[in-house]
Amino acid sequence: MELCWHPYRYFPYERELAFREVQSLLSPEKYIKTSKGIKLEGGFDVAAMERLVYFALASTGGHVVRTMQGRLEQAGETRSNRQATRYSVHGLHEYKGKFNPQVVRAILNILDVPLGARVLDPFCGSGTSLVECAHLGMSATGTDINPLAVFVANAKLLALATPATDLSRALQRVVRDFEPCTGTEGRMADNRTAYLRSWFDAMVLTQIEGLRHAIEQEDVACQPVLLTIASNLLREYSQQDPTDLRIRRRKTPIPQQPFIKVFEEAANASIARIRSVQSELGVIPVTSRAHLVDVTNELAMGRSVGNVCFDVALTSPPYATALPYIDTQRLSLVWLSLTPPDDILRLESRLVGSRELRGADKRGVADLMRTNQAGLPDRQAEYCLELNAALSSEDGFRRRSVPVLLYRYFSSMADAFRSVRARVHKNAPFALIVGGNHTVLGGRRFDIDTPQHLAEIAETCGWSHQESIALQTYQRYGYHMKNAVNSEALVILRAS
Ligand SMILES: C[S@@+](CC[C@H](N)C(=O)[O-])C[C@H]1O[C@@H](n2cnc3c(N)ncnc32)[C@H](O)[C@@H]1O
Repeated sequence: MELCWHPYRYFPYERELAFREVQSLLSPEKYIKTSKGIKLEGGFDVAAMERLVYFALASTGGHVVRTMQGRLEQAGETRSNRQATRYSVHGLHEYKGKFNPQVVRAILNILDVPLGARVLDPFCGSGTSLVECAHLGMSATGTDINPLAVFVANAKLLALATPATDLSRALQRVVRDFEPCTGTEGRMADNRTAYLRSWFDAMVLTQIEGLRHAIEQEDVACQPVLLTIASNLLREYSQQDPTDLRIRRRKTPIPQQPFIKVFEEAANASIARIRSVQSELGVIPVTSRAHLVDVTNELAMGRSVGNVCFDVALTSPPYATALPYIDTQRLSLVWLSLTPPDDILRLESRLVGSRELRGADKRGVADLMRTNQAGLPDRQAEYCLELNAALSSEDGFRRRSVPVLLYRYFSSMADAFRSVRARVHKNAPFALIVGGNHTVLGGRRFDIDTPQHLAEIAETCGWSHQESIALQTYQRYGYHMKNAVNSEALVILRAS
């Protein structure tokens, strides 16, 4: 049997994952590389072969079988020289820091996770892993502290479960019945109004409010899908600079085309991709769900995900001291009534890896760090103290916060490891895609090997570290090059 590559260029880590998934799913005695892919000897299980992610098809004795990934990537995507990443419902929203969808299923393959397994993604974000599990017919549970993440993740699952014709009809009615919503009475006179007025021109505001109203008249399954698509376009039409990860006033004019038109085009494109995936896999009932919960709170986590004992966990956790990506989502959080405007800062400060730490809080964490009250392993506790000792008077306030923020990040991740451990079977694998980081303190450069630090912390929280695989060229969506982390790793733990 010959397995053939997809027709695009691969990163080195993708080849490495490709060989690993072949090894794990098919266990060939030997293989040889060919110009199109690899040749294996022996007979193989077709169902296992169809699960391969980094191969488009397999040919054996003149018979060709396409992999599910080959079918998914082709469905609705026109380019063939680049890896498709927005196939199915992945393109519904450009949530910052999204997983590469291929990696999710490659992880499931490498870990040889059976299709009946229950999967947990504790930092599920916009639900890439839940969607990939849905493609396989697996049920998965996600948790995230960000209400927009939970909204988008559940909307994607609903999109897979709602026939594309229903979505298309709903869209037609919305566009037909849409009326700009003028005046400040009624539904616009809520606590969102002042905030939205400060970021949208009056004309745009009447359009987005009218659109929201029209969408809200639709079937409950269609509403979140259409609202998600609209929310993805909001920043482009606001007075915020859409290219900036921080909130700054834009210098360029807002687009000329009316919002409703752009929404209609985007929705049609999304529905076409949904139609394609449904023609390949059928309408996929919702068996997965994202929950709004702080994963560092073990009790809250138990209450929200219930008594399920998961067979596998996989996730891409936040980076240490990440930029506050939630800034780019403020308009959506408020427009969708998910977070009141004056709660956004509080939400941001609760995110693992947040850089929000002020006054008394900062002194509090500094005290915890000095005496290692979170009980981190010595190496991580000492590392934070070493960074602290390196600070000089030249370092500005951002840099001065780095040691304390890193200590808080490590402590929060320790709590998350304990929470997840309490929800999985013994020996269950936990795969994390984690990026490293660097900082300059007192003129000295420190490369923070976050994957290794997290693996060591996890070992004190009920996990054993099985292996780490370097993914040098892995790039999450939405990270600017200068913030991009060039040392990502796939860290594999086992529940001990
Ligand atoms: C790198 S993103 C995950 C992206 C996701 N894999 C996707 O494909 O969209 C990390 C996520 O962790 C979430 N997060 C941060 N702190 C959290 C906490 N305390 N509890 C749960 N989720 C949290 C963030 O809201 C963010 O969505």
